[in-house]
Amino acid sequence: MGQKLYLTRREKFSAAHRMYVPEWTDEQNLEVFGKCSNPNWHGHDYVLYVTVRGDLSGETGLVINMNVLKEIIREKIIDKVDHRNLNLEVDFMKGMNATTENLAVAIWNELEEALKSAGCELYCVKIEETENNTVEYYGKKDH
Ligand code: NI
Repeated sequence: MGQKLYLTRREKFSAAHRMYVPEWTDEQNLEVFGKCSNPNWHGHDYVLYVTVRGDLSGETGLVINMNVLKEIIREKIIDKVDHRNLNLEVDFMKGMNATTENLAVAIWNELEEALKSAGCELYCVKIEETENNTVEYYGKKDH
């Protein structure tokens, strides 16, 4: 059996969003989503943590080259979301309510295959929307 290790890469991005259900009135949305339902958008400085799991290579002493991990996250996620409107401009968020929960699942779906191809397994996508609010997604498994 190989030695399984967990590696986490942190990336930051700034983006605008609005959390709302289109069929609801602004008042209903305000009641459920609070200030994040502002019809004229607002922004957050998000912090994204991507954790992968893989075998320790006896040859390199690495699980995955951090530069490879960084480039995958940049290409698949950061370049598409940074300084964008999550509701309007991000292809993988189309048609979804721009909650941090939906964002975490969408980012997972964008990264999973690419990381597998790079030889490791996606373990967790964690997003801090604010210092106080964090969402974690571990894929379709019980935890
Ligand atoms: Ni918000």
